[in-house]
Amino acid sequence: DTLSASNIVWHDMAVTKQRRAERNHQKPCIIWFTGLSGAGKSTSANALERQLFGMGYSTYLLDGDNVRHGLCGDLGFSDDHRQENIRRVGEVAKLMVDAGMITLVSFISPFQRDRDIVRDMVDSGEFIEVFVNTSLDVCEGRDPKGLYRKARAGEIDDFTGISSPYEPPTSPDIVIDAGELSIEEVAKTLISNLKRLNVIG
Ligand code: PPS
Repeated sequence: DTLSASNIVWHDMAVTKQRRAERNHQKPCIIWFTGLSGAGKSTSANALERQLFGMGYSTYLLDGDNVRHGLCGDLGFSDDHRQENIRRVGEVAKLMVDAGMITLVSFISPFQRDRDIVRDMVDSGEFIEVFVNTSLDVCEGRDPKGLYRKARAGEIDDFTGISSPYEPPTSPDIVIDAGELSIEEVAKTLISNLKRLNVIG
């Protein structure tokens, strides 16, 4: 296989993941937001990043809509392309953790298997799965981008929740009822859960 890494040697670096984490005074990790389109993933992740950044943590937010303009600009919404999307984002998030960052990730990421693959890429406790649990009814009612209306009209194929599956997390680390809570309450709930999980002090 010409694409295999058989002639590529892994280099151990002089500055380690642990030293970068210590310098940043934090436990680098991936905080992974999953949920339907319009569930409030980006809003919740943004609110959390703002809080963490304000508390002095070094953070970075990877967001579906943005990453799909660049790194994943060649991908669509078939099952295979979503799988590849999440694989790439997982690898980038892993590099960010290695670089010492608390890394927030906001993608529909509809398949449990793909989320589990990312969980297994990093050390135990470094992957926090946040289920933004907003019902399809509420998401479709909000329809902030008009995409549900287009999907119902048959103008978008493979639309999550309508013509493409969404698998809710089987054992999420945190569940957020973004349909019920104000954005301040969402941020507060996330912070207290991250303390409970010893991600932050
Ligand atoms: S995935 O499933 O994780 O690969 O999707 P993601 O990269 O998060 O991209 C989701 C955003 O793309 C827009 N969009 C669609 N979503 C779902 N299904 C289809 N067919 C689709 N086409 C475009 C949509 O704006 C999603 O943004 P969010 O923020 O989730 O609403």
